[in-house]
Amino acid sequence: MKFFADTVDIDAIKDLADLGMLDGVTTNPSIIAKSGANFLEVIPEICKLTDGPVSAEVASTDFDTMMKEAEKLAGLADNICVKLPLTEAGLKTCKHLTAQDIMTNVTLCFSANQALLAAKAGATFISPFVGRLDDIGLTGMDLIEDIVTIYDNYGFETEILVASIRHPQHLLEAARLGADVSTLPPKVIKQLFKHPLTDKGLADFVKDWESTGQSIL
Ligand code: E4P
Repeated sequence: MKFFADTVDIDAIKDLADLGMLDGVTTNPSIIAKSGANFLEVIPEICKLTDGPVSAEVASTDFDTMMKEAEKLAGLADNICVKLPLTEAGLKTCKHLTAQDIMTNVTLCFSANQALLAAKAGATFISPFVGRLDDIGLTGMDLIEDIVTIYDNYGFETEILVASIRHPQHLLEAARLGADVSTLPPKVIKQLFKHPLTDKGLADFVKDWESTGQSIL
């Protein structure tokens, strides 16, 4: 499974790249707004930190303006993946960008039928939002299971990018279902390393080694 970092935090992205846990980056307008970053400056900077896809989202909602924004974003770096909303205009834009060999990430997917449409439009990635479905009392992972089944049934090449992940259990379930990619807040990736028995076991090994008085170096 590929790990994308769901952030524009340059230090966090560098840290994950150094750990070998970075296969790409996703962003959205809310992440940009929260960070205070300049969108057209931070995206090219992020593109230099990974060879993987960096999702940059259009801001408009009509086809003509989306196409213009998408072409500008795609020109920022070779690894830009244009993020488009799951609307009629978004999927029409997706189809045109796919014909130009520009990577696309169709976002705000909340139903399996929407995911089917995105695959038919030739999306590189589909982003189902599991956390936001959980937030309204549904089970986000049921959507991932359905999309995996439907894409397998028809051999669609669109990659399933599990988004709106809130905790390690989401990642575990996405991996069990065979999703292609998970996009994760850096803090959730860091949580994956941790287990209390690892910490305790290591503390015991260090103490016992010290009691031998030996040195490896
Ligand atoms: C990523 O592509 C999505 O924009 C992101 O995962 C949404 O997460 P949220 O539901 O926590 O805002």
